[in-house]
Amino acid sequence: MRTPIREILKSTAPYDEIHAAGWVRTRRDSKAFSFLELNDGSCLGNLQVIADAGIPGSEDLLKMSTGASVQVVGKLVASQGGGQAWEVQATSIRLLGSAPDDFPLQKKGHTTEFLRSIAHLRPRTNLYGAMFRLRSRMSYAVHTFFQERGFHYIHTPIITASDCEGAGEMFRVTTLDPTQAGAKSFADDFFGKAAHLTVSGQLEGETFACALGNIYTFGPTFRAENSNTSRHAAEFWMIEPEMAFCDLQGDMDLAEAMVKYLVKEALEKQDGDLSIFGKFVDKGLRERLEFVAENAFERLPYTEAVEILKKSGKTFDYPVEYGLNLQSEHERWLTEEHFKKPVTVFNYPKEIKPFYMRLNDDDKTVTAMDLLVPGIGEIVGGSQREERLDVLLGNMAHHGLSMEDYGWYADLRKYGTVPHAGFGMGFERLLMFVTGMGNIRDVIPFARTPGHCEF
Ligand code: 4AD
Ligand code: MG
Repeated sequence: MRTPIREILKSTAPYDEIHAAGWVRTRRDSKAFSFLELNDGSCLGNLQVIADAGIPGSEDLLKMSTGASVQVVGKLVASQGGGQAWEVQATSIRLLGSAPDDFPLQKKGHTTEFLRSIAHLRPRTNLYGAMFRLRSRMSYAVHTFFQERGFHYIHTPIITASDCEGAGEMFRVTTLDPTQAGAKSFADDFFGKAAHLTVSGQLEGETFACALGNIYTFGPTFRAENSNTSRHAAEFWMIEPEMAFCDLQGDMDLAEAMVKYLVKEALEKQDGDLSIFGKFVDKGLRERLEFVAENAFERLPYTEAVEILKKSGKTFDYPVEYGLNLQSEHERWLTEEHFKKPVTVFNYPKEIKPFYMRLNDDDKTVTAMDLLVPGIGEIVGGSQREERLDVLLGNMAHHGLSMEDYGWYADLRKYGTVPHAGFGMGFERLLMFVTGMGNIRDVIPFARTPGHCEF
């Protein structure tokens, strides 16, 4: 049985026989032996292997070049050199698959742009290996955060007929031959109905919050927005909690608690993987994350945020005016230059927000909130939902949403309505925040951005 290198490196005692396997990172030869560094993807560290000339399998040693896969049986002994506690003195070694000289990861120091072009091989580098192990652990942490608090995990549909955000940025679902699915036109080709990929699980999530109390979704969402920025992807993973009997305050509290919890998890449970980002991506990463984990965030209404931005004296590319959306340059200035910490902005003008947000007593603003973080801007967007049937019906009419399509959503207000609230956190944006990586294409295994869908 193979022991993962992660376990081997943590060993507390020598072993007479250990089985390991991995991909060769480097190999150096002398007359009497070869020295190999193996990585099996279980951790950042490599296993040092000494393979004497003459052991079974050593006839293939020269083929065990960078990228080749090998199996080793040997003794785990205290390392002679510095840097590592243990090394393996091989008693046999086996070449599983060679890697010809054109293996693209021969030398270190490739650019992230180049590595994106070989998305099928980049997880074999130190940086992306660490990235995707961290992504896995952070997914787990998302679940523990909610499960420890009694939230139920709901699987909302990927194919849906509703447009939660009302922005019309949807990918339509179609069959290759729509006539086969009973459709009369391309507009209704999901077995005779119009359907698209979900932009958010919120509306369906609300139905479950209004039944089970506290729920969350965590799944892929799709946006057909043609924005070529470092923070937008056409396919991204969103975490969406929804809470019955909850208002905007409770919603903002949960979002803050969640960011703090996930940052703490990234600091504590990352098994050494965070170090590579601190070394190569952002030298101040650990310090910055510790600050976020330990200090209160700022909270202020949209109107005040606009005032502060206007008084800043800074020239922005986009205008700052009451009634306009905050752009990421504004969000970043607020978090990076002004408050120097994460900021939650709430109570946005109703005109720039979707139909489902609860109208405030001022009749002008809605209970929306965005949580902004330094380096990125918006990482969470949410609101208290409009629970009053008459107000919701008014909003629906105003946005041109029919009872035929959204009657089920109005039903939640017709039958036993409750104040409820929730938000969506972009999982990739969270990962960018905890690793310091500057481009969303580098935190998702296979990025889907305009023009990129290689395989
Ligand atoms: O602000 P958004 O559009 O909000 C919603 O979809 C609500 N229905 C959520 C809710 O209340 N349940 O998106 C929420 C978050 C953003 O704050 C951002 O982090 C992320 O999702 N996001 C994206 N991430 C990557 N690429 C994109 N194109 C994204 N669009 C939104
Ligand atoms: Mg938003």
